[in-house]
Amino acid sequence: MAVRAVILAAGAGTRMKSDLPKVLHTVAGRPMISWVLKAVRAMEPDQIVVVVGANGDQVRPFLGDDTDVVVQEQQLGTGHATGLALGAIPSDGGDAILVAPGDVPLLVPSTLKELIGLHRRTGSAVSVLTAEVDDPAGYGRIQRDGWDRVVGIVEHVDASASQRQIREINGGVYVFDSGLLAEALPKVEPNNVQGEYYLTDVIEILGAEGHPLHALKTAPSETAGVNSLAQLARVGALMRTRLNEALMATGVSMQDPGRVYLDADVRIEPGAMLLPDVYLRGGTSVAAGATVGPDVTAEDSVIGPGAHVWYSVLRGAEVGEGVEVGPYASLRPGTVLRKGSKVGTFVETKKSTVGEGAKVPHLSYIGDAQVGRDANIGAGTITCNYDGIAKHETIIGDRAFIGSDTMLVAPVTIGDDAVTGAGSTITKDVQPGALALERSVQKEIPDYAARRRRRES
Ligand code: UD1
Ligand code: CA
Repeated sequence: MAVRAVILAAGAGTRMKSDLPKVLHTVAGRPMISWVLKAVRAMEPDQIVVVVGANGDQVRPFLGDDTDVVVQEQQLGTGHATGLALGAIPSDGGDAILVAPGDVPLLVPSTLKELIGLHRRTGSAVSVLTAEVDDPAGYGRIQRDGWDRVVGIVEHVDASASQRQIREINGGVYVFDSGLLAEALPKVEPNNVQGEYYLTDVIEILGAEGHPLHALKTAPSETAGVNSLAQLARVGALMRTRLNEALMATGVSMQDPGRVYLDADVRIEPGAMLLPDVYLRGGTSVAAGATVGPDVTAEDSVIGPGAHVWYSVLRGAEVGEGVEVGPYASLRPGTVLRKGSKVGTFVETKKSTVGEGAKVPHLSYIGDAQVGRDANIGAGTITCNYDGIAKHETIIGDRAFIGSDTMLVAPVTIGDDAVTGAGSTITKDVQPGALALERSVQKEIPDYAARRRRRES
């Protein structure tokens, strides 16, 4: 028995009130459709068909080349969409057709496996995934007979007041016998409040014909669908709980996991500590012994072992072992902070390397620069890297001491062990070991205050 999967993703998603196709809204940094595809791929199905709608061109790049794409021009309902998908599936009969909506990102492979297992074991015509939820509003309700057998599904909008009391909902995930599905779909009629061809009607049709139907009840958190931005936020929170609990189980500490926002591809080693209001995005990684937060946003950045990063923003930055970053540092792309270095309060860096043990503690801009090992950059130092036309490099040697408020007008090189006097504007290279001073002579007018008072009285 081949397993073929159909993912329904053509809906306009009008309830999202957004121009972005619904299935591209992200949960933990990944479009919803990618989550569903991931769960479905884990089943190693013989075929995956994705039904996309009018905005399908936006969705296609996220589908991978192992999927067949079918376009549903008009959203006439889930039954209609499934019928179109069947057009792309060989009609050998006897296959299991797994149908899943593109808006249930919390679906997990083990549940899909169980559903397919149930279907095989029982020789069901349809096996449907259900859940008992506290707030069933918006979902289709599972109808059972006096023997607790599934007999149909009624949509929320079509349900009577008493049917709306039912708390067992349709998760929108089913396994169908391919032959029976193909027979039943043409019998579905759009006589409901929405005037749509409901896939859910197939259940009642096949049941009434005497075919066996089965349901698998799973955890409500797996079937949560996203039809609105409020539901997207709720599902995001559930995913956060799932990802963060999995990480804590490996030995990652989180003081307040509800306030740690991680993209699914972020890697964190056991022994790392994440404090509240940390957002780690894209391919960011955090090594053992590092403490990140509070208040850190890091995108595609590497945080090394034992590093301490707080109240800061990192984009495309590499933070080495034992490095200290923040508070209030902005590390822009191309920043590399070598072992034991420090980038402190109100410092911005870009396309620059700070050498081992070097310190940029306060109020600096370091751009297009190489800072040597154990160099010290005084408060307020700025690399003037841009002349209005092009960017230029600043090279600072090992153990160099840059006095506070030095302007380093690039291109310029400061030799190893060289020193610049506070307040200097350095436009020429400084030789290793030399002191460069660029200041006017300090004048002093004695008794100035008293003389001024006399003048003004
Ligand atoms: C659907 C089910 C409901 C179930 C819920 C679970 C039907 C009639 N209702 O309701 O019983 O509780 O899912 O989340 O099936 N789609 C298409 N083409 C269409 C219409 C929809 O591809 O013409 C796709 C959507 O993009 C979506 C999925 O099918 O991914 C489900 O459609 P949606 O409109 O979200 O259905 P619900 O009202 O949530
Ligand atoms: Ca839905």
